[in-house]
Amino acid sequence: MTQLITQHLIDDAYGIETACAVLQAGGLAALPTETVYGLAANACDSVAVAKIYEAKGRPSFNPLICHVFDVCAACKIGVFDAVALQLADAFWPGPLTLVVPQVEGSDVATLVTAGLQSVAIRVPAHPIVREILQSVAVPLAAPSANPSGRVSPTTAAHVLAGLDGRIDAVLDGGSCAVGVESTIVSCLGPTPVLLREGGVTAEAIEAVLGADLVRSTDVVDAPVAPGQLPSHYAPRGTVRLNAAKAGDGETLVGFGSVAGDLTLSAKGDLTEAAARLFDVFHQLDAMGARKIAVAPVPEEGLGRAINDRLRRAAAPR
Ligand code: TXA
Ligand code: MG
Repeated sequence: MTQLITQHLIDDAYGIETACAVLQAGGLAALPTETVYGLAANACDSVAVAKIYEAKGRPSFNPLICHVFDVCAACKIGVFDAVALQLADAFWPGPLTLVVPQVEGSDVATLVTAGLQSVAIRVPAHPIVREILQSVAVPLAAPSANPSGRVSPTTAAHVLAGLDGRIDAVLDGGSCAVGVESTIVSCLGPTPVLLREGGVTAEAIEAVLGADLVRSTDVVDAPVAPGQLPSHYAPRGTVRLNAAKAGDGETLVGFGSVAGDLTLSAKGDLTEAAARLFDVFHQLDAMGARKIAVAPVPEEGLGRAINDRLRRAAAPR
């Protein structure tokens, strides 16, 4: 991957303006939140989001949390029912993430949601990230700002220890008050489900709901609609990998010199291919492709996460 010069910004007007400029230009800025430092990119810019995976060296695409300034901004990308609004009212701004249905035709890149029709949204409380969200006025996708498999950073020094030279900037806002990730609650079904423990306790949520919170492990045997779980999102057709050309009745997804009916990246650019991956899946469904063949994608850098997702799509279902 390209070596970048990571700007170490402090939380003055220049630092905040520079972080905003980086984000608006499609770059990556690590920002303090009250939970942990997040590695932020414009959630509506698929190439910027692909760079998050590249910088973290994540071997797979998991859906990311969209950070927004307030409930009003949240409602532009997610559909909030009465319970979701009640939780948002009680805990935002703060360390609670709500998974809700995505607004149809929202600008959020499909790579952010890993192609799902739901979206995870959080209104953070840290004043620096709030100022930046208000100024850039786009949702920011932000997983924790650490290389994949390492512990989440709670200081700018932790961020630099893992990601110096891999991101455009880190904004130093001191140490994070909460220190653990946000609690994640899914509001997709008839009752809210706790998906991840975090900064807001289950007891506090139960007190607001006036009811026990269902744990995700409690519903593991419940029927799950295809596409509801991250690992389930794949095109409807069967998928054959490492195809040099299309077989009988196959729709070919190209990469680089293998030209297809559609392509992940004609230039053979892995960042572009990652940015386009879930859009291509949706396009294949829209075309009604029953048999899909995919050109070889090199197993390096972002190619590993792309191949991980392609292998899952090709696995017997
Ligand atoms: O405290 C936090 O939440 C930090 C700071 C930076 O805000 N962010 C964070 O993001 O932990 P991340 O990307 O590491 O965590 C995202 C989690 C994943 O476990 C993912 O599976 C879940 O959110 N998630 C995201 N979208 C989802 C969706 N549509 N359905 C179910 N789970 C989702
Ligand atoms: Mg993390």
